[in-house]
Amino acid sequence: MTGADKPGPIGVFDSGYGGLTILREIRHALPGYDYIYLGDNARAPYGTRSFDIVYRFTLEAVRYLFGQGCHLVILACNTASAKALRTIQQRDLPLIDPARRVLGVIRPTVEKIGEITRNGNIGILGTPGTVQSKSYDMEIAKLYPDFHTYSQGCPMWVPLVENREADKPGADYFVRQETGNLFGKNPDIDTVILACTHYPLLYGKIRKFVPETAQIIKQGEIIADSLSDYMKRHPEMDAKCSHGGTCRYLTTENAGKFNEMASLFLDTHVTGNHIDL
Ligand code: DGL
Repeated sequence: MTGADKPGPIGVFDSGYGGLTILREIRHALPGYDYIYLGDNARAPYGTRSFDIVYRFTLEAVRYLFGQGCHLVILACNTASAKALRTIQQRDLPLIDPARRVLGVIRPTVEKIGEITRNGNIGILGTPGTVQSKSYDMEIAKLYPDFHTYSQGCPMWVPLVENREADKPGADYFVRQETGNLFGKNPDIDTVILACTHYPLLYGKIRKFVPETAQIIKQGEIIADSLSDYMKRHPEMDAKCSHGGTCRYLTTENAGKFNEMASLFLDTHVTGNHIDL
């Protein structure tokens, strides 16, 4: 086995802390693997950045994680999945190493909603970048041509979470405003996708303002189930992922700041290290 074939950790990438909501569920479902979480906190949020920039930042992170020995990287970020995943898969991976894999969060989420909705009216709450990319609308149209999609960008929600305002009364104003805008487009939406990995942190507020008749979909468990299924279908990738049960945390921000916030997201203390991309 050459150095490049040596089993390595699974990389989990997000612009900031939101991907921790995905990592948490993945580790719960698949505790045996080794993981590296990388948050590009110094350059977050990505949600209001252009395609070119999100693509460049995401590719830098993917290359870094490959350099750490990861054969498989999960983009636990809807904005990066919407704006960078396809280009990385189609253009960059064949050049970097065709045997490595980068997976996103949009497709598995869309596959799941077919089992959940009753009337096919799907609401999507995401960052302005994810909403403008229309990635969810296109993916839903491919799989379920009869469904109708309604999207609402929520520019203030990630900053609320990143600035620890998610549980404060001020958050109600912004959550009421955006959920109101979404249901103003169609009051019969029965399934709302939280299409941003930060939004589970606002779940309590979102539930308060979304009509009871609508289900709210968090992505963590869906992505964990999908990864578990992927590993069963791809024993060759399973063999390339090391099984030590560890998790390392890396951030492009100050490590102390990361540790404090990440511990809130995960309900447990973590020790991260600073890296430069
Ligand atoms: N957590 C990321 C997502 O799922 C976005 C956060 C950001 O704007 O950086 O879209």
